[in-house]
Amino acid sequence: MSAQRKDDHVRLAIEQHHARSGRNQFDEVSFVHHALAGIDRPDVSLATAFAGITWQVPIYINAMTGGSVKTGAINRDLATAARETGVPIASGSMNAYLKDPSCAGTFRVLREENPGGFVMANINATTSVDNAWRAIDLLEANALQIHINTAQETPMPEGDRSFSSWCPQIEKIAAAVDVPVIVKEVGNGLSRQSVLTLQHLGVQAADVSGRGGTDFARIENGRRELADYAFLHGWGQSTAACLLDAQDVGIPVLASGGVRHPLDVIRALALGACAVGSSAGFLRTLLDGGVPALVAQITTWLDQLAALQTMLGARTPADLTRCDLLIHGELRDFCADRGIAPRRLAQRSGSSETLHPMTGSTR
Ligand code: FNR
Repeated sequence: MSAQRKDDHVRLAIEQHHARSGRNQFDEVSFVHHALAGIDRPDVSLATAFAGITWQVPIYINAMTGGSVKTGAINRDLATAARETGVPIASGSMNAYLKDPSCAGTFRVLREENPGGFVMANINATTSVDNAWRAIDLLEANALQIHINTAQETPMPEGDRSFSSWCPQIEKIAAAVDVPVIVKEVGNGLSRQSVLTLQHLGVQAADVSGRGGTDFARIENGRRELADYAFLHGWGQSTAACLLDAQDVGIPVLASGGVRHPLDVIRALALGACAVGSSAGFLRTLLDGGVPALVAQITTWLDQLAALQTMLGARTPADLTRCDLLIHGELRDFCADRGIAPRRLAQRSGSSETLHPMTGSTR
């Protein structure tokens, strides 16, 4: 059952990626163009640091898969691409392994193919502390992701219906393990309140993983015989909205969900993300063109990220939080309703203020 579900997720996520309109709320974030802001390319670094972690690049391959023969092969290819490009990578949920150790190899391959890389293990919020350790140990993981996904579980035919244990369990795991803990959504977004709760629970970082890309309410509804949860499609806040909502929270924030190209990465970094993940987009490239296509895509993204930082005058990804941003359309309405002042984003290059969580700014 679990292996079949993993294969279904890959198939349905890719079908969804093909069917997507191409627009999402990142399109409602633009930069004020300052024609003389540019710097020299050799002065630009892509390195980012948060929660005691330093990455040489501000992008990562986010959690997807493992647990079946087919997804083990996908993990092997993703790990190879991560090794070739130096990007960090997360496993898919390892609860399949925790229930059935015979599928260990489909996850372990992430470390075997990428011995020197930054690898994150991924578990759910009901996992025991002992099992969290087992997941970390299998991958010799550098960090632990815990996914939270009420809007996926709800339409999932075999999904969880009890969520009250999640906070105490996250707190226990965060207190027990010796690697940074990153709690992530799966495409429905983290509100400011959720991020503040996570901070209180002692986690080191939060990945908002918002709406705009893979929609797991839709995927799970597609696995139901009657598909009677269609009204949940598109649930949640966009990734851009989550980043605006989470300004000046006390823990580092990562972004994923609907990241389509390097400009979306730059937008997310400018909105305060310390790093930016992609899942379905990278998976589609891999399935269409194999490892060489994914390596080429990531290499191009890294090159274009450095080019965009050069144009914008940002020596580091963190410097992007001093670029002037314009917020348009429904995202602007979201700001008004949530008490966020877009005007401050539009005028910040002249001030010493910054939105970056590392340097702790104000709205
Ligand atoms: C996912 N995602 C996911 N997340 C997680 O924490 N554990 C998991 O096991 C999975 N499994 C999974 C499978 C597949 C096929 C996809 C495409 C995605 C969610 C993923 O990490 C991310 O949060 C969302 O997909 C949003 O990012 P994209 O796809 O819009 O870039």
